[in-house]
Amino acid sequence: MEPHTTSLWLESSPAPRHEPLRRDGLHVDVAIVGAGITGLTAAVLLKQRGRTVAVIEKERVGGGETGNTTAHITEAVDARYYFIARVFDKEAARLVAQASRASIEQIAQLVHEFAIQCRFKRVPGYLYTEKRSFVAEVKREAQAAAEAGLAAKYVSEVPLPFAIRGGVLFENQAQFHPQEYLAGLAARIHGDGSFLFERTHVRGIEDGEPCVIETDGGKLTAGAVIQATNVPIVSFTTLHVKDAAYRTYAMAYPSKGAHPDGLFWDTAEPYHYTRWQETGEGEFMIVGGSDHKVGQEADTEKCFTGLQQYVDEHFGPQQPRYRWSGQVIDPVDGLPYIGRSGNIYVSTGYAGQGMTFGTAGAMICADLITGRENAWAELFDWKRVHARGAIKDFISENVDYPRRMIMDRLVRSNVETKDVADVKPGEGKIVSVGGRKLAVHRDDAGTLHALSPVCTHMGCDVAWNDAERTWDCPCHGSRFKTTGEVLNGPAH
Ligand code: FES
Repeated sequence: MEPHTTSLWLESSPAPRHEPLRRDGLHVDVAIVGAGITGLTAAVLLKQRGRTVAVIEKERVGGGETGNTTAHITEAVDARYYFIARVFDKEAARLVAQASRASIEQIAQLVHEFAIQCRFKRVPGYLYTEKRSFVAEVKREAQAAAEAGLAAKYVSEVPLPFAIRGGVLFENQAQFHPQEYLAGLAARIHGDGSFLFERTHVRGIEDGEPCVIETDGGKLTAGAVIQATNVPIVSFTTLHVKDAAYRTYAMAYPSKGAHPDGLFWDTAEPYHYTRWQETGEGEFMIVGGSDHKVGQEADTEKCFTGLQQYVDEHFGPQQPRYRWSGQVIDPVDGLPYIGRSGNIYVSTGYAGQGMTFGTAGAMICADLITGRENAWAELFDWKRVHARGAIKDFISENVDYPRRMIMDRLVRSNVETKDVADVKPGEGKIVSVGGRKLAVHRDDAGTLHALSPVCTHMGCDVAWNDAERTWDCPCHGSRFKTTGEVLNGPAH
């Protein structure tokens, strides 16, 4: 049986049930674009402080990246605490640890307060290596995490069914079913002058007093706007060169019985992550990884093949029931970008810590909007100057634009064929037709779909993603359906 190609979370949770916006003239204190973990957490916190909110979601609650996460709720950060201590300082590492812990406790508190049935569970987390050459790095991270104030320590064993060389134990991490959690938050939005609209596309946001938000269902105004859209769709344009967009892949396998409790991350390149989760459809082992920069992997199907091979070798041969992918935004200096420009707020750059940094971003935005002190706001401020040591990464991550655009236009041809007959069912190719470049896809029924290959964000050419059947932009990670609709920003 072929596995489902949508996430375990989206398949095992209810369909959309919030009405779209269908009128002009609405005014709220805060408009929030995006009903993922950042948007809905911010909405709930603001509403608790007496503000009216309107959450505007293009598809359904969790239909963006939160519904495609693997939902590790953790203090362990991709950037590593020793790196943060080096390129910022030890106080920064301490604040990142503090924000991550506070986010876990914020989630726990909302689950408890609203009695959200989302299978929230405290579990240990383990960063581990199978290679002797990485043991020193793992030891360094154990020490830096402990110095940052976490309950973390070096361990020589982890409860997995294969040998490892060393690891870091992070105590008291957590997991949940992210769609069930979002549904619990979403149920708290409507009423008392607040709204949640699904299937409503934001076409533009104008900063001002008030801000004006134009959607396909009507215009509304707000005192402030939070862009909780994974990457900002308006303003904050300099952020697009401080972030790099990666695709990450996940597969879910029906659980085979007894298994260790915990979140597991290895140090391979690209890395793998594993956990188990009870759902309404039974229990699953979820394995993810095989990350690559968006639009820069010619054979995306091999990312799933690579994950399957990893599972076969480490957990024994088995068949996935679900496979899906998500978009990870890696900030150049390792920390999220959160803050404001005028009355528009942004929260992005969570790397692999979408659940915790997404929650921290909501807490910071809510504090900034309501005039409360926030101890992490300055460190995560999107306007921060690059930390020392991150400059090299900044340059290497962002040579893609404008180099890509120059290459596409002036230097080399990315045309793959001049004959649309070469585009087989299920494929997509850049085709030159009468001297004009087109992005051509042939669907399974044989019908051709042709688009301009030029990304509507800043003009790079898109590339075909065969595993997901999308057109992906290598410059800043925008992704498009074969019909041209935007799947991932910054294009919108
Ligand atoms: Fe920026 Fe395509 S040019 S995402």
